[in-house]
Amino acid sequence: MLSYRHSYHAGNHADVIKHLTEVAILDYLLKKDKPLCYHDTHAGAGLYSLQSEHAQKTAEFKDGIAKLWHYQPQSVVLRKYLAVIKQLNPDNELNFYPGSPKIAALMLREQDHMQATELHPTDFPILKSQFVKRRYSRIENTDAYAGFKAMLPPLVKRGLVLIDPPYELRTEYQDLVTGLLDAYKRWPQATYAIWYPVIERNAIEAFIAAIVNTGIRNQLRIEFNLHADSQGHGMTGSGMLVINPPYTLAEDLKLALTEVQQQLGLASSHYQITQLVGE
Ligand SMILES: C[S@@+](CC[C@H](N)C(=O)[O-])C[C@H]1O[C@@H](n2cnc3c(N)ncnc32)[C@H](O)[C@@H]1O
Repeated sequence: MLSYRHSYHAGNHADVIKHLTEVAILDYLLKKDKPLCYHDTHAGAGLYSLQSEHAQKTAEFKDGIAKLWHYQPQSVVLRKYLAVIKQLNPDNELNFYPGSPKIAALMLREQDHMQATELHPTDFPILKSQFVKRRYSRIENTDAYAGFKAMLPPLVKRGLVLIDPPYELRTEYQDLVTGLLDAYKRWPQATYAIWYPVIERNAIEAFIAAIVNTGIRNQLRIEFNLHADSQGHGMTGSGMLVINPPYTLAEDLKLALTEVQQQLGLASSHYQITQLVGE
């Protein structure tokens, strides 16, 4: 079943939290000259028009990136995230929003490697077409976890794995835990950033506990909620579970999320940044 299309959700509040975390991690890794590898498991289409029928239908970006678009942040990471999106909207009008692989491609240098997997028959060719000219790119129309077996470890040993499933099926939570263990065995030095939705509190806590119980060390949880938990009323927030985070990540995101919270302007919103497992 592949009914999920990210074009309906691009630039929403969950994308803001996810992509802010991605930018913060890549920014840290890019401080060294040595090449890095970015591996994106559920890459999507890579680029989204916010004028498209899909984006206009849900208008989710209006409660996400649109609220930050004219803001001048203090936070360095928030400034860098907005600068990446501005590269795609040079006339200062918010028309396009980049997906996770496009954000990475806009930040990476020539020497860095890019790997991505995406299953959707419509989104895959759109994704692939954006990277044909990029050196060191491997973009495959394959399953995320088959991709781990085929593509990890990469030639370059520093890097980031972004894991962002649609969670359409309940089995995707367990598949992720199994896949993560496989990837970690192959590439233990990498940073892993796992996106998760907050829909049912008990279910998401069980998922987080399953990742904690893998025995993998050094896990940081970042979670931003717009509203209080409400069983059965859709997504109230989202989070990123980061394994091997840069030591600067918690502080960088604290500054960024404080400003995001102010700009989104919801009295009910709250966030947490918690070290779940020590180094
Ligand atoms: C949430 S979207 C990804 C958004 C993207 N990471 C971003 O931030 O711009 C999830 C994507 O996973 C794809 N997908 C679903 N199951 C998959 C699987 N088993 N392997 C690879 N891709 C899959 C879907 O087609 C969809 O494009």
